Amino acid sequence: MRRRRGGSLAVFPGSFDPVTNGHLDIVDRGLAVFDRVRLAILLNPEKQPLFSVDERLAIIRAAYRGNPRVEVDTFSGLLVDYAQRVGASVIIRGLRAISDFEYEFQMALMNRRLNPRIETVFMMPAESYSYLSSRLVKEVFQLGGRVSDLVPAVVERRLREKYGAPARPRRRARVKRARRTG
Ligand code: PNS
Repeated sequence: MRRRRGGSLAVFPGSFDPVTNGHLDIVDRGLAVFDRVRLAILLNPEKQPLFSVDERLAIIRAAYRGNPRVEVDTFSGLLVDYAQRVGASVIIRGLRAISDFEYEFQMALMNRRLNPRIETVFMMPAESYSYLSSRLVKEVFQLGGRVSDLVPAVVERRLREKYGAPARPRRRARVKRARRTG
């Protein structure tokens, strides 16, 4: 028989395609309140993610290697059913700006209706991450922008593997080329 680990457990669900420093900030805040935080990646066959589920699991495991209080898992079906199954009574969601609020509020109330024993807790990331999203990270990287302060190092490495080096030529190469042609 598998025994459940003790202490309070909060589930932090999402797509995490890829995980960003904004997500990590929310995990840190969650750890200040709960004994364990479990990132739960939604298995969504309708979405075309950049990173496969296995890649996202590996990335998150690498980002939290050696921290037994952070777990990662996948789920499908209703989030509240998953939370109940794994013994979590709290769902954590990050709220970056007012624009997140309506969607999050709707989800939280629907989840409460589905299972009133599971509470949604909203946490605000540091202001410096209030504009950050996985979608923007992918777009900025693909177009040659720097994302090193926005994602853990393992994500930057994996983005490089996916897309190759950033699209924009390096400054020195640009200068050399300009000298040659100018
Ligand atoms: O990172 P995302 O894409 O904003 O996360 C959305 C997520 C995974 C939290 C949400 O889509 C979800 O909980 N899906 C599971 C299905 C479910 O329970 N639906 C009813 C909740 S309103």
